[in-house]
Parts: sequence; structure tokens; C-alpha cells
Amino acid sequence: MTAMLARANAIELRGLKVAYGAMTVLRSVDLDIGEGEFLVLLGPSGCGKSTLLNAVAGLGQISEGQVFIGGDNVTWKQPKDRHIGMVFQSYALYPRMTVRKNLAFGLMMQRVPKAEIDARVAEAARILHLEPLLERRPSDLSGGQRQRVAIGRALVKNVKVFLFDEPLSNLDAKLRGELRVEIKRLHRDLGTTMIYVTHDQIEALTLADRVAVMKDGVIQQLDRPDVVYATPENRFVAGFIGAPGMNFLPGSLETGTDGPVFRAGDVLVPLAGYPFRGPPGAGRAVELGIRPEHVRLGDAAAGQAIRVEPTVDLVEPMGADALVWTTLAGHPFSVRVNAEETLPGKGPVTAGFPVARVSLFDVGSGARL
Ligand SMILES: Nc1ncnc2c1ncn2[C@@H]1O[C@H](COP(=O)(O)OP(=O)(O)OP(=O)(O)O)[C@@H](O)[C@H]1O
Ligand SMILES: [Mg+2]
Repeated sequence: MTAMLARANAIELRGLKVAYGAMTVLRSVDLDIGEGEFLVLLGPSGCGKSTLLNAVAGLGQISEGQVFIGGDNVTWKQPKDRHIGMVFQSYALYPRMTVRKNLAFGLMMQRVPKAEIDARVAEAARILHLEPLLERRPSDLSGGQRQRVAIGRALVKNVKVFLFDEPLSNLDAKLRGELRVEIKRLHRDLGTTMIYVTHDQIEALTLADRVAVMKDGVIQQLDRPDVVYATPENRFVAGFIGAPGMNFLPGSLETGTDGPVFRAGDVLVPLAGYPFRGPPGAGRAVELGIRPEHVRLGDAAAGQAIRVEPTVDLVEPMGADALVWTTLAGHPFSVRVNAEETLPGKGPVTAGFPVARVSLFDVGSGARL
């Protein structure tokens, strides 16, 4: 009994493939989403995020593979029989109905008793802070309020699984931040399994229990946000997560007296202590990655195991932080510093970072070394 309950709203995708004619959009995706997990699908436009979400929802054709919700094979079931609630980027509210009616309408169509509809609408309105808005029409709401009504319409259905497809991308930055917190709270309070599609990596890192980073219909890495951030599996993931992005220096590996060394022109980086996954391979073409926030400048660089001498081109203040744009071995190299630090002027500066923050990628395959 408990085993059944524990899987009541888990999702499993097995060998899922979606092709439109000759174009394969999803290539054999296997994915297990746990009971009550918040999974974020993150990737660039056109990588297949919505296609994957639609396959779970039962919208759109699957070429191969199977979808299970709560252990139940729903591959051939209608969307209405899958116990899911879906929220899209466009709110798609009924313009002539009040918020209350918008929330109740789906349940009225299902002939749910009126007392129960009233109770569920009241509960959704309470959770989403819609109580003062129930008698308004969508045209009299802000974008964020409309999107909350759209979430409420999914909420009243008592679903096993919530599917969100870029629900916040039509909103301005401030509202996006506010609703992001509300969605996180909603997940904490309901414990419902959620799949959330976005190309905004901040949303991914803040909301997800696990992030699946996608490219060209293939999941590149599936892990906790902190793991994806700290140990990207390949060059694509490394470049996609982080703003401003990771610095990449192309170069090669050499064998030094104290172990492997990275060389880019006359820049040498000792790599003693780097957790290579296999033999480093001297002469191999690699890219060294280091995030701007992991580099220290000037006096703060002195204690670091790795020190380099970039040239400062420009300082960009960003409120709490400042971005220092430099050039290292002919490549752009940015450093994020606290805006209250003494900022360097144009010209040479000492930069330092620990080997524990370094990522190395094979130039040919893009794989993490
Ligand atoms: N009905 C269709 N016929 C042919 N190609 C399609 C169809 N639907 C989607 N595609 C293609 O499949 C690919 C993946 O589309 P999908 O909508 O899943 O991308 P996405 O990751 O959600 O992108 P975005 O971030 O822009 O929403 C795209 O190249 C798209 O053009
Ligand atoms: Mg999409």
C-alpha cells in the first residue's frame, strides 16, 4: 500500500521519441521524476522543452516510448484523464467571466456539485491571494494577477501533477521574481509533482529540486541545481548556466613537474588537485572554464593557488557587484567583484582562483575532463 502511495504522482518517461516527419525533436528521453519533486526543464529555444511537457500532458503525438503517471501507463490516455494541471505562458482566461467564474468553469463543466466548487475556488483564491479580485474580469487585472488566476484554474482541479510552460515569461522582471516565490511556496504547501519549463536559468536554479538541461532534444545533465552549477557535465551546460557566463580559455594540457598544467599562449595554470576523471592526456586540446564570481583580484588574489595576469579593459558597476572585463591570453575574461572593493583601473592586474573551481572540457567532444 505504501509503495503504491509513494508513487501516486511520480512520472516516468521511457524511451520517449517525438519526430515531425524527418525532424527528430526528442531523441529517446528516459526520465524519472519523483513524488512531489520540482523538476525544471531548461534549455534554449527550440530544444524540445514544450514537446516534452506536452508529451506528459497528452497534447501532441509521441513517435515512440511510454509515459507513466503514478505508475499508470497514460501513453494513450486523453489529457483530461491524466490528472494534470497545466499553466501556459499566455493566460488564456475567459475574458467575459469574472475571476470566480474563470476558476469555477472547468469544474462546472465536469458537473462537480456547487458546494464543492465553491469550497475549491475559495481555497485556490486563498492560496493565490485572489480573494479581493474574485468579482473582477481579466481585463481589470495586472499581468501577474492574470497569471495567478491561470495557476488557480489548474489548482482547483485537485491534480496529481502540475505542468508549467514558461508561465512567467510575459511578465516584467519584478513580477516574475514575486510570482517565482509564490510558485515555490505553492509547491512547498501542496507537495504536488511539478514540471516547469523555462529558458531562464535563474528560475531554474531557484525553483528546482533537480534541473534537466536540454539541447537538441537530448537531456545533457540532470542533477541538483548546485551540482549543475558547480560541475557542469559538458561545455554546453557550462556555458548555459550562469550570468554572466563562465569564462572559457582555449589551450592545451602539458605535463609539469607537479602534475598536469594548462597552457594558453604564455598563460600557465597548474592543475595539481584537479579531479580528472581519466588520464589527462598531455597535448590534448582543452578549454579551461572558471566563473567570474570565483576569481579574485589584486591583494585578494595573493592567497590563491592559481594566479594569472590579465589586462583590465572596462569596469561595469551592477549595484551590489561590479563586473571587471579583462583580457587574458587574447580572450575576454570577466571577474565579478564586490562593488565596495577598490576597483582596478585600466591595465595589468593580478587575478587568482582555486583549482577546486576550475572546469576542464575536451575541445573535441565538449565533455568534462
Ligand atoms: N507540429 C510541429 N511540426 C514540426 N515541427 C515542430 C512542431 N512542433 C514543434 N516543432 C519543432 O520542434 C522543435 C522543438 O519545439 P519545442 O516547442 O518543444 O521547443 P521549446 O524548447 O519549447 O522552445 P521555446 O523555448 O522556444 O518554447 C522546434 O524546432 C520546433 O520548430
Ligand atoms: Mg516552448
